Amino acid sequence: MADDFDPAIRARQLRDFIRHHDYRYYVLDDPEISDADYDALFRELAAIEASHPELDDSASPTKRVGGAPAEGFVSRPHRQRMYSLDNAMSREEWEAFLERARNALARQGGKLPGTFFVDPKFDGLALEVIYENGRFVAALTRGDGVTGEDVTENLRTVRNLPLSLTPHAAAAGLPVPRLLEVRGEVVITRQHFYELNEARRAAGEKIFANPRNAAAGSVRQLDPKVTAARPLRFFAYATGAVDSPDSGPPWTTHAAMMRALGLYGFSVARQGRTCRTSEVYPFFQELGKMRLDLPFEIDGAVVKCDDLAVQAELGFTDRAPRFAVALKFPAHEAETILRKIEVQVGRTRVITPVAILEPVSLAGVTVSRATLHNEDEIAAKDLREGDTVVVRRAGDVIPEVVRAIEEKRPPEGRRPYIFPPDCPSCHTPSVRLPGEAARRCVNPDCPGVRLRGIVYFVSKAGLDIEGVGGRWIEILVDRGLLRSPADLFTLTREQLLELPRMKETLASKFVASIAKARDTATLERCIAALGIPLVGSRTARTLAGRYRDLGALSEAGEEELTELSDIGPEVARSIREFFTTPENQELLNRFREIGLWPRGEPKKATTQAGHLAGKRFLFTGELPGMPRHEAQALLEAAGGIVVSAVSKKLDYLVAGDKPGSKLQKARDLGVTVIGPGEFVDLLRPRRGGNVSVQASLF
Ligand code: IVH
Repeated sequence: MADDFDPAIRARQLRDFIRHHDYRYYVLDDPEISDADYDALFRELAAIEASHPELDDSASPTKRVGGAPAEGFVSRPHRQRMYSLDNAMSREEWEAFLERARNALARQGGKLPGTFFVDPKFDGLALEVIYENGRFVAALTRGDGVTGEDVTENLRTVRNLPLSLTPHAAAAGLPVPRLLEVRGEVVITRQHFYELNEARRAAGEKIFANPRNAAAGSVRQLDPKVTAARPLRFFAYATGAVDSPDSGPPWTTHAAMMRALGLYGFSVARQGRTCRTSEVYPFFQELGKMRLDLPFEIDGAVVKCDDLAVQAELGFTDRAPRFAVALKFPAHEAETILRKIEVQVGRTRVITPVAILEPVSLAGVTVSRATLHNEDEIAAKDLREGDTVVVRRAGDVIPEVVRAIEEKRPPEGRRPYIFPPDCPSCHTPSVRLPGEAARRCVNPDCPGVRLRGIVYFVSKAGLDIEGVGGRWIEILVDRGLLRSPADLFTLTREQLLELPRMKETLASKFVASIAKARDTATLERCIAALGIPLVGSRTARTLAGRYRDLGALSEAGEEELTELSDIGPEVARSIREFFTTPENQELLNRFREIGLWPRGEPKKATTQAGHLAGKRFLFTGELPGMPRHEAQALLEAAGGIVVSAVSKKLDYLVAGDKPGSKLQKARDLGVTVIGPGEFVDLLRPRRGGNVSVQASLF
């Protein structure tokens, strides 16, 4: 066999295999082989190329790792100008666009056909990629539309960009054009954006303000190896010049062109579709609803006349096509003034900063507060009180401050923000433990911590006591009537009636719902309501399934606790710490006295069946399009166990959008971290092969 070995033939074969598998994996999202098998093909090809330099080929998949750094970017003209798009911000503006197109065609004796192609408007970096005789030869940024920057070597590293057009097109009767210019957008998933920023933050580098900047910053890198390390994707949405063997493009509608681009090997938005005129606006609204569930940022829909002859008839203004328009979603980013940074202490003693903003409308909601995470986050963004800032609502309902607009600071500057060293409630010095981003109040008697603890106790996450709201609790704590959750159960109507604006009926209801909660609370709820750090509803259920009552739980040792299916050492320690605190022991005594002492139903540990039996999972961040409880239910159905903290015993950390500190911790401990797509893939029974799939809804 060694005698028959022809490196040129084998290299060609391997390149074809790898191209095919890249296409299956990155474009179709449907891999056929395992990562290990893929790696073996890749290594074999790399070895052949290394020992046979004469086989060098710029379209080889091995070229995706990034070549030598460039000195600077070279400007090049576009063959055809890359136009911008006019925006329509409302239904009226969409109708005005239609009217203009109708009139323009009427002047030429024509009529506007009722078919449009509508696809998501990507919020990334617009580019043109150029193919000659089926091979990728160049990539240019949009630039000013007339000339762009040559980013060829950087685009070569983008995994879903075909380096040579796939043979699927030929099979469908499509010729390989002598020249094919494809326009599209380079994007980065929100998930990867957060991960990238987390890594940059940890390395003390400047963070990207949004996924668009991250994508643009990653493409505009002089060192293609840096680009190669970023998980960028290219989505095609239009063509520039096309020169086919039989002259013009082999398609006559935008929809047919998009199908052809798919067949040539490009990723195109799966949501793109043709619409009748009356369907366009409802479809745009539908995309708006999907928006936050998509892995990539989109900021609207682009509507194009489907018939390319009509596109040509309508032509362009100086700036934009007359045959296309961008329907934009209401902005979810806005500028406003950061009036003040307030700090709050929570039930877990963590002191969190909150931005108090000049109210501003964001995606239809008025926002006047936003989370600032912690001290380091404020420092990294260099936010200062009085600054003009950009706020946004991302995959989340909680708005956040993205950055300060430094140019809008007064020339004399503003004082950098200094995080207060004391607890905002009790004014004792707060403490920051090594390795933690959070400051904590360590005063065991802090009224702020008490208040938040009691509010949590009555909340939906706790005993869910109807009609007992945070405002009343605040008043009761202020007046010294409530010091611990146990005090709720001894409150009398008379005491309540002394509060300002407290009515007879409300006081009676108040007392009745507290009594009802005492009589109906389950052990699980009671444990959850204690607000033990790291113990959520899930762990509370496990504990209630194992211990007779709060007394038995309070005596459990750390080792015994870690034997439970979803409890790691950290959680066990936290539980132990909670119950050994004299104050909490006192709380339990009082619960017993007042009759809040539910019994559990200890169960034997069950052995789970299913292809993930016994595997331990933990979630961090949001899974796009899948509520957490649903993910847990699916996982449990497959035999998996959801644990509550990161430990070495964890099999998988599932990191969604905006992952928390668990991500870093899992990495530190060498725990396998998977994305939402891989998680969904794991839920499916194995076909064999350890295949990992990219999360992609496009
Ligand atoms: S079509 C002649 N489709 O948005 C029409 N453009 O803000 C060519 N963009 O310059 C553009 N998503 O770079 C088209 N699905 C999409 C798009 C899209 C994003 C970009 C495009 C344009 C910019 C205007």
